[in-house]
Amino acid sequence: MIEIVNMTAEHVTQIAHLETVCFNDPWSERSIASELDNKLSLWLVALDADTVAGYIGSQTVLGETDMMNVAVSPDYRRQGIGEQLITALIEALKSQGSHSLMLEVRASNEPAKSLYEKLGFASVGLRKNYYRNPKEDALILRKEWQI
Ligand SMILES: CC(C)(COP(=O)(O)OP(=O)(O)OC[C@H]1O[C@@H](n2cnc3c(N)ncnc32)[C@H](O)[C@@H]1OP(=O)(O)O)[C@@H](O)C(=O)NCCC(=O)NCCS
Repeated sequence: MIEIVNMTAEHVTQIAHLETVCFNDPWSERSIASELDNKLSLWLVALDADTVAGYIGSQTVLGETDMMNVAVSPDYRRQGIGEQLITALIEALKSQGSHSLMLEVRASNEPAKSLYEKLGFASVGLRKNYYRNPKEDALILRKEWQI
């Protein structure tokens, strides 16, 4: 059974490994660990017993939250975990007074775009050549809610 919990120090190594599996430009273990001390940051982890199946990272400034990353281990995809992570993040953000969530996604990332569309994110812009390795445009998506 999957449980969504706040990230702690014991999850950092597994998250850093998943970053290298899921992204071309991964966060380092040190950068992820530093998020634990950042009062603006909220990271959640999807746990299957002691295994990190997925995670989501965010930062909130003045009631507006940026999602920095979300990933699910290839072994655990298409089981609703990505959706659970975003939904749990939004619930936690509501209780902290945030009223919106913004993110960037590679223009070609169809699984992620489908996930965000399912959860009601709207397209609000485009950043030309935002990504490197390979170079690609980012779509900017946003979802807001009442608190
Ligand atoms: C994007 C990602 C997080 C989705 O995680 P997931 O746990 O597999 O997604 P879920 O099972 O919660 O899927 C929820 C919805 O997303 C969409 N979706 C997810 N994967 C999809 C795929 N491969 N193709 C099409 N739609 C997909 C569907 O709408 C799905 O709803 P459905 O199951 O009712 O059809 C995962 O594919 C991933 O980690 N990708 C690599 C990292 C990444 O690209 N992160 C996003 C960076 S912006």
